[in-house]
Amino acid sequence: MSEHFKDKVIWITGASSGIGEALALQLAQQGARLILSARREKELKRVGALTKLPELDLMLLPFDLKDTSRASGLAAQIMNKFGRIDILINNGGQSQRSEVSETTEETERHLMEVNYFSAVNLAKAVLPYMLRIKSGHIVVVSSIAGKFGFYLRSSYSAAKHALHGYFESLRLENESKGIKVLMVCPGKVKTNISLNASLAKGTTHGKMDESHVNALSAEDAAKQIIVAILNNDEEIFVGGKELAIIKIKRFFPKMFSKIIRKQSPY
Ligand SMILES: NC(=O)c1ccc[n+]([C@@H]2O[C@H](COP(=O)([O-])OP(=O)(O)OC[C@H]3O[C@@H](n4cnc5c(N)ncnc54)[C@H](OP(=O)(O)O)[C@@H]3O)[C@@H](O)[C@H]2O)c1
Repeated sequence: MSEHFKDKVIWITGASSGIGEALALQLAQQGARLILSARREKELKRVGALTKLPELDLMLLPFDLKDTSRASGLAAQIMNKFGRIDILINNGGQSQRSEVSETTEETERHLMEVNYFSAVNLAKAVLPYMLRIKSGHIVVVSSIAGKFGFYLRSSYSAAKHALHGYFESLRLENESKGIKVLMVCPGKVKTNISLNASLAKGTTHGKMDESHVNALSAEDAAKQIIVAILNNDEEIFVGGKELAIIKIKRFFPKMFSKIIRKQSPY
């Protein structure tokens, strides 16, 4: 266990389940002070109780990532209570299981708001406070779908790709001012991500994909993310054997093209 997170003020989105919940529990054990966000207040209360943090060190801040205009007001609320924001973990997100030809524009825009604009606006809301103390770490949970397009993931993959362009630029502009950026690209992690994935018209998939059943646990994913924060890594891949595709794409692009076509969307 590291002393690095002791008394650090860490804002985690998507903290009501999966990777965000696991991060909250592990960071609380390491002495962090936490702000937990997601839509479901009841689930945030459950996770908050599991952290065993005293009221002084815990804030539940429920909101919909689609309400991007609320970002600066929410950051101000955190500043009022804690006086600083050390780490923002942009983790909340929603996947997709729908073909381009069937997906409505409303769903496309929804997925961009939840997976891309939310991260942008929250980062812009905390950045002035981080710059003021010349220190801050922004963690962005992307996906291997942020590295290549895939069946039934068009808007999700586009939003995740966009995160890389945006946050790599933000890093270049702000690293000399004390700001660090970590991009996290999970492959398959055993969470509710496929159950909650959006279908063409915005309803949810409601099924656990076969490929997620025996995937890496959210706890192990969180452990790897925490190590990457400590190591000041710029980008990490988290998952199991599915991550091999990243190296195949980079070094053997023609082989990648053949392999990717044969993969199941589920
Ligand atoms: N699991 C994987 O295999 C995998 C792979 C690649 C990338 N990822 C990424 O990992 C991140 C965490 O996902 P997970 O796997 O832990 O899935 P999860 O268990 O479904 O968690 C998603 C979290 O995001 C929150 N969320 C979703 N839509 C929201 C909205 N409109 N407003 C506010 N919060 C919202 C959910 O909370 P509420 O429902 O309470 O709002 C929940 O806390 C996501 O960014 C996802 O894209 C996961």
